[in-house]
Amino acid sequence: QVEQTFVMVKPDGVKRGLIGPIITRFEQKGFELAAISLRTIDRNLAETHYGELKSKPFFGELVDYLTSGPVCAMIWQGPHAVENARAIIGKTNPVEAGPGTIRGDFGMDISGNIVHGSDSDASAAREIGLFFDRDHVAQPSAQL
Ligand code: CMP
Repeated sequence: QVEQTFVMVKPDGVKRGLIGPIITRFEQKGFELAAISLRTIDRNLAETHYGELKSKPFFGELVDYLTSGPVCAMIWQGPHAVENARAIIGKTNPVEAGPGTIRGDFGMDISGNIVHGSDSDASAAREIGLFFDRDHVAQPSAQL
């Protein structure tokens, strides 16, 4: 069974021209792209997506940030998709993310951490469902 994860280049990453470099890193790692969509999300979707952070003091700021411009939502698939994506994205805070990771190489501060990746299989399924219609997701390709 092919595992999938949800990845989103946030508005700062899109504005800085980092969609290409981020896609390249996922392809080089060995992931297969299953769906991609560039869109500006409304506050309702941003609040639902980050629903479990509703009580955090930075929640309003986080929703402002996520709705400040287009995001690039993607589904990437392959073995251990969630864990492998988290490994190449790096720690949440770019200050702590190691060199060689996306946040370590491209980000400076937690309030602009470039990219989101699902933290579990359950989150991946939920987040994919929020952003994509089943019909628009590519089926896993035949084994090479
Ligand atoms: P992400 O991996 O998308 O998941 C939750 C997001 O909340 C995180 O990346 C950051 O963008 C944001 N976040 C987490 N902690 C903080 C914080 N202390 N201040 C501001 N934003 C935060």
